[in-house]
Amino acid sequence: MPDTAAREGSEYERDLLVQLTSRWSKRVAVKKDELDLDGHFDAALPDFPEHLVPVFSLPGADRLDRDARERIMSAAWIAYNAKTTAIEDEIILPVCRMMLQDRIPVRHDDVAVDALHQTIIDEHYHILMCNNAVGVTRRRRDMADVRFAPDAWSVVQGRAAARAGLSGFDRDIVDIAFSLAAETTISGFLSGLSTAEDIQPMNRITTDMHRRDESGHAVVFRELCGSLYRSVDSAQQRMFREALVGGLASFRSADLEPWVAVAAQGGFEIGVDQMAEWAASRPVPARDTGPLQLLLDDLGISHDLVEAVRVNRS
Ligand SMILES: [Fe+2]
Ligand SMILES: [Fe+2]
Repeated sequence: MPDTAAREGSEYERDLLVQLTSRWSKRVAVKKDELDLDGHFDAALPDFPEHLVPVFSLPGADRLDRDARERIMSAAWIAYNAKTTAIEDEIILPVCRMMLQDRIPVRHDDVAVDALHQTIIDEHYHILMCNNAVGVTRRRRDMADVRFAPDAWSVVQGRAAARAGLSGFDRDIVDIAFSLAAETTISGFLSGLSTAEDIQPMNRITTDMHRRDESGHAVVFRELCGSLYRSVDSAQQRMFREALVGGLASFRSADLEPWVAVAAQGGFEIGVDQMAEWAASRPVPARDTGPLQLLLDDLGISHDLVEAVRVNRS
């Protein structure tokens, strides 16, 4: 790309961050009235889309009665929110706070600092939204004891594996790359529920409110991670690319143990090995990586990077 075009491109991106931060109070969930959760709870409707529950495709699932299936769908909704919370709390929030530190070579102008603080507030509010919605589910469905550890999820385990043996800035690069993978693909994860018909209105609406905030975060992370990538040396750039591929693969990996626990809520006893078999045989799940591809274009990284994740999983 000629120098002038590159300069114009980055100026446009910077303008986008200015526009985004200045409209924050008008567009984000935390600035809107709280949803009347109980008012949007219809006990007759399932809490989760049936087609997104993999245990229903395992042998023996056809013998589950309606009550067992509904309990499994309620537990699946609780698990979904526990996973969302873990992504926010373990993967994204620590990196937002890290990027505010001077030692991390990302933009630190006033607009970038505003964008990071706004994102931190959004993400904490998303955790609160998950907690409030799941609180209603636990109370109305009598599921007080359904809990998941923050490291139960393949993405948290994948990040732990990727940073094993690393320290200092190398580990920071891995953490930042995983947060970029999260922020550019979370919309796809949330849209599975936000577009689901015939489920609990409370669950669909609260997930949709979250999803709407994430389109802004994708821009923030594209901009900040772009500034980091351009300022590190080629070995660190390679480490960033590899961690990004690892992050995308982790986000596509199935969660095994949590589904075993979800199935148990309906009295359906399955093993981790059955879930692993299902995961190995399923088609590669589609995730919307559109925002990521914009970043790859901006940095001059081949789209093959994203394609490689698909091929490795198939
Ligand atoms: Fe979020
Ligand atoms: Fe986010």
